[in-house]
Amino acid sequence: MVVSVANLEKHYGKVRALDGVSLQVEPGTLFGLLGQNGAGKTTLIKILLGLIAPTAGSAKLLGEPVGRPDNRREVGYLPEDHRLPEYHTGPSLLDFYGALQGVPRAQRKARIPYLLELLGLKGREKLRVRGYSKGMKQRLGLAQALLHRPKVLFLDEPTDGVDPVGRKEIRELLLEEKRQGVTVFINSHLLGEVEQLCDRVAILRKGQLVLQGTVQELTQAKATWLVAFDSPAPENLTWQGGKLEPSERQGLLRLFLESAEPDAIDRFLAQVAANGLRLRHLERERGSLEDLYLALADRGGQAT
Ligand SMILES: Nc1ncnc2c1ncn2[C@@H]1O[C@H](COP(=O)(O)OP(=O)(O)O)[C@@H](O)[C@H]1O
Ligand SMILES: [Mg+2]
Repeated sequence: MVVSVANLEKHYGKVRALDGVSLQVEPGTLFGLLGQNGAGKTTLIKILLGLIAPTAGSAKLLGEPVGRPDNRREVGYLPEDHRLPEYHTGPSLLDFYGALQGVPRAQRKARIPYLLELLGLKGREKLRVRGYSKGMKQRLGLAQALLHRPKVLFLDEPTDGVDPVGRKEIRELLLEEKRQGVTVFINSHLLGEVEQLCDRVAILRKGQLVLQGTVQELTQAKATWLVAFDSPAPENLTWQGGKLEPSERQGLLRLFLESAEPDAIDRFLAQVAANGLRLRHLERERGSLEDLYLALADRGGQAT
């Protein structure tokens, strides 16, 4: 396991930033930790990096208890709201940080131009960070995190403030890192982002994990379909095991089935045929992670 956390707690006075979190991240995964502001995401990353100590519970990184200096060399980190020294240019900043991290000069010389090109910063070598856009700063921050070829990348809100084109470039870069065997741990409050990118997702709410699984697992079990008939179905028809209502999509009805089991739709289709109707459209609705997330937030809201 790259990350292995059990019953982790972090208290700040009365605030339980983490309140009994357990999770594991396997090698080569693009793992997304989702949650609203204040959920505890940054706290978890900081514990994994050994920057703050947990109140209770255990946290391991690459099989070792967190905070071992030899582990840090395997890890790249893009902090949330990071500040890069403004007087540096891109290349001088990377060279400076690389030297601090102990990356040999020859490796810096080869890797810095490669990373600048990869992150779309080529041609801007003379520009000082002071003149960078937010998106350029994020990309330079990523280059910094990747400089020493880490096995594990921790990215805290990596696409915050980045325009859509920059976001796409960052996504492609992370997929490439994954192909090369790097494990990527991303904190984000941006659901669409995580949904598009991550293999596995965990949702953190007020210091507790409310859900984890693959994006597919978390979004598939929706029991609604969109349907249309060749000619209108009789108004008075009652459907066993479901109901039909108009949908917001032109010409399509929404079918609510009482069960998400595969044979529920077969029973509907049998009724269609038995009533002499013909289908023109049949499409399963897939829940988005966002639906799920909002539902969870609501449920929590009622409980407190
Ligand atoms: N150093 C600190 N002192 C006191 N409270 C903190 C500190 N760091 C974080 N917290 C609190 O812990 C909770 C989780 O914060 P954080 O991990 O930053 O959440 P997220 O990254 O998901 O937005 C919040 O309520 C925050 O106010
Ligand atoms: Mg945070």
